[in-house]
Amino acid sequence: MEQNFFDNETVFRGYCELRDSEANCNVLMEQPEMAKLLPELHGKRVLDLGCGFGHNCKDFIRRGAVQVTGIDISHKMLEVARSESAHPDIDYRCMSITDISMLTGGYDLIYSSLAFHYIEDLSALMRDISSLLNSGGTLLFSQEHPIYTASENGQGHYTLDEQGNKCGYCFSHYLVSGRREDEWFIKGRIYYHRRFSDIINAVSDAGMVVQHICEPVPDENMTAKRPRSDVLHKPLFLIIKAYKPF
Ligand SMILES: C[S@@+](CC[C@H](N)C(=O)[O-])C[C@H]1O[C@@H](n2cnc3c(N)ncnc32)[C@H](O)[C@@H]1O
Repeated sequence: MEQNFFDNETVFRGYCELRDSEANCNVLMEQPEMAKLLPELHGKRVLDLGCGFGHNCKDFIRRGAVQVTGIDISHKMLEVARSESAHPDIDYRCMSITDISMLTGGYDLIYSSLAFHYIEDLSALMRDISSLLNSGGTLLFSQEHPIYTASENGQGHYTLDEQGNKCGYCFSHYLVSGRREDEWFIKGRIYYHRRFSDIINAVSDAGMVVQHICEPVPDENMTAKRPRSDVLHKPLFLIIKAYKPF
């Protein structure tokens, strides 16, 4: 049974505040890099896995997509999506990413922002994605970076210099892939750490070709809002773009 973490009231409220905050790393670092890697979408069909508030689904329509399916396990996230990001050509469905083999395929883009680290079996997910993609179609996804997910019980931590400034980041258990649990708004967030090689091999073993890898670097806009020492020592996000060959 998949965890529906974002439907918890405290998590949902905290996440809404986080996404609204000026110094939000998703908005300032991850989303711009994801947008740069989007393929041409005119006339295309798109599937967004873990679509959250549906902002990206709406953006795909703006970019010319003719049909977008956004799926999420959270009722609360989908409620916002249906009110803030509704469109006649977007179909929001409450379902788990682990059940996408039930969908009818033929997608030109399968997209996912920051949801795949919640999925236990990445290899099975990549096989499902590959069979839903049209030949030549694109997979574009981001997830929490493996250095960020590595430490057991979320116990990675910054090291401080004598003045108390962050001067490094300490992590452990990188080589031990598997389940992790930490505290994020509440105790008990479950996610899965995978080595960089596990992730790349899961994509290519499913018959897709990795085209581009991005580890977003904070730009001046970001470092104007957060101290450089807060955001430079540890990569937060990993972005992978792949395609299904003809
Ligand atoms: C960090 S949020 C990102 C939301 C959205 N992609 C965005 O970038 O704004 C992660 C989303 O993944 C969803 N999610 C987590 N596990 C899921 C699963 N097994 N099936 C479907 N959605 C899932 C959560 O409910 C949440 O909406």
